[in-house]
Amino acid sequence: MASLTVRQLDEALKKQLRLRAARNGRSVEDEVRTILRGAAAEGDAQPAAASKPGAPSPRRATLAAGTKRVLLIVGGGIAAYKSLDLIRRLKERGIAVRCILTKAAEHFVTPLSAGAIAGERVFTDLFNPAGEFDVGHIRMARETDLVVVAPATADLMAKLAGGLASDLATAVLLATDAKILLAPAMNPRMWANKATQRNLAQVIADGVALVGPNSGEMAEAGERGTGRMAEPLEIAAAVEKLLGAGKAAQPLHGKRVLITSGPTHEPIDPVRYIANRSSGKQGHAIAAAAAAAGADVTLISGPVNLPDPFGVTIVKVETAREMLQAAECVLPVDVAIFAAAVADWRVTNAGAQKIKKKLGQATPGLSLTENPDILASIAKRKSQRPKLVIGFAAETENVAANAKSKLVTKGCDWILANDVSAASGVMGGDRNTIQLVTAKGIEPWPPQTKDDVAAMLVAHIAAELEKK
Ligand code: CTP
Repeated sequence: MASLTVRQLDEALKKQLRLRAARNGRSVEDEVRTILRGAAAEGDAQPAAASKPGAPSPRRATLAAGTKRVLLIVGGGIAAYKSLDLIRRLKERGIAVRCILTKAAEHFVTPLSAGAIAGERVFTDLFNPAGEFDVGHIRMARETDLVVVAPATADLMAKLAGGLASDLATAVLLATDAKILLAPAMNPRMWANKATQRNLAQVIADGVALVGPNSGEMAEAGERGTGRMAEPLEIAAAVEKLLGAGKAAQPLHGKRVLITSGPTHEPIDPVRYIANRSSGKQGHAIAAAAAAAGADVTLISGPVNLPDPFGVTIVKVETAREMLQAAECVLPVDVAIFAAAVADWRVTNAGAQKIKKKLGQATPGLSLTENPDILASIAKRKSQRPKLVIGFAAETENVAANAKSKLVTKGCDWILANDVSAASGVMGGDRNTIQLVTAKGIEPWPPQTKDDVAAMLVAHIAAELEKK
């Protein structure tokens, strides 16, 4: 056959062919040739199997042994744009991603962009004969290790709670035996609505896992509250945790880890307090990374404006003394990491009632006393001292020298020294530059995100525990 002209293709099929060709970097003509070649070869090899219902699809992407697969359902909300980054983050972690876009999601992202990043065909329609023939919603529901819904809209959550199967996404959710992870995203009032909270309680009771939603600014001008979708990195960490991908990906499996994070607030009176600029981002990132590495993590957090990291036990405290007490209750642990910026002093004459200002009279004097040093107390314990005790050194000058002396005076094993001067942007920012100070010397780490610092620290801890 010298050439082949295919006529009478309907518009939808032509569009599908064009998308598929674009995804594979071929001309439409070449794509048709490839499909025909593949079909002929499959036909020769497995004539009987191919015609059986439920037989493996000739076009199914074959995965390397051990590769985990996530089925990502993208719901229709403004947060859908983050789903493209989520696909990238999952693929970076060696996870294969197959996507379903709901009709509403297609208003925010296109099958072409999701498919290009996933490197796989994207499915949108339950009643599309090509899609159903190619993979089919029941196989899609089964051929996955985890189903992730991100963003999970109020509508999708309601349908999941009610067991509806009115489109491809909900049919797959109803048909799957795999664990389901929702990353809700909606307006704070929709999230707080009794119906949504009822549906939430139902899906949690049904065993569905949740990541987020977070609090903060919403897409709508002037709207704040709870309802922001968790960030792609948080969702990726939750996915890794749920996939529990073997010991290699879980180097802290079976280890107990204690982490302190955030500032402490030391009351002056019932409405005022002493605090510092710590955001808790670094400590929380370490907690998330340790949990993703399989550790049993307890995070003791001072007052922060951050979501609870996925898969950790969180204890919320306010003052240094509460933080110490909570830390002692968590012992014994294998590793303790003290990332909190603990207030060094508390007010001894804190008012039981709001201290009133009296015009023309002297300002009230605050009498301060030193707070317990939580890191030093745990590091110097005779019993139940963790195998590895790690502190931070927040410095604005002489960073390395001050950190070295803290290593000795506090009796810990490692100090992560960082420059917290205003110019460094570390306090409250997303990046950090660490010098790891140990008895052996100083190891400078590159400037990187706080998430990357957390991952690097977890890798160092895992290597150290291997030796012990
Ligand atoms: N730390 C602690 N309890 C305190 C003070 C500090 O556990 N009361 C811990 C911090 O979590 C950190 C380390 O000690 O891991 C160093 O904290 P940093 O604020 O850098 O130093 P300080 O000990 O407070 O000393 P200085 O303020 O003089 O630098």
